[in-house]
Amino acid sequence: MADERAQAPAPGPNNKGKFLVLIFLGLLLSALSALVALIGLESGPVGNAFVPGGTTPENLPEPESEGARLLVRHCGGCHNLPSPKLHTAEAWPYVLDRMVAHARTQVFSRHPLPSEENQRLLLDYLRRNAKPSAAATAP
Ligand code: HEC
Repeated sequence: MADERAQAPAPGPNNKGKFLVLIFLGLLLSALSALVALIGLESGPVGNAFVPGGTTPENLPEPESEGARLLVRHCGGCHNLPSPKLHTAEAWPYVLDRMVAHARTQVFSRHPLPSEENQRLLLDYLRRNAKPSAAATAP
């Protein structure tokens, strides 16, 4: 073993080391700019491409209800205010779970997570006012 190592070519001249350092610096720089882009994205309207505008606290269904109040409080921070009509009652639980996960995973989050109780109220509200499902509208 020791003999084989002794026969291995000697490490190249210093140039190779410098080359590796340059590559390392390059990688570090791209990682940093990716991080900055991520942080920048977080503070902007990340989800607006996915949520159409035009919904306001006033034109929500049951605007005076606790559900509407919670929607305005918890769902308008990252994108336009989502209308309950965007999804069917069957789909909302999955979408809501994903949104809670979004809010939970944001390191620099300024978006308050709804409590378990409020998530239930919010889901009731969304499902009560949801888009009619295909089954419900079928003749
Ligand atoms: C922490 C940020 C954040 C918060 C808070 C948030 N969302 Fe989102 N939302 C996103 C992101 C990012 C997307 C786009 C990616 C995706 O669809 O998961 C999105 C997309 C959506 C969409 C469009 C995609 C689809 O499946 O129709 C709807 C509807 C939506 N959000 C509803 C809600 C509701 C309701 C709430 C409040 C409970 C909420 N969001 C709170 C980040 C957030």
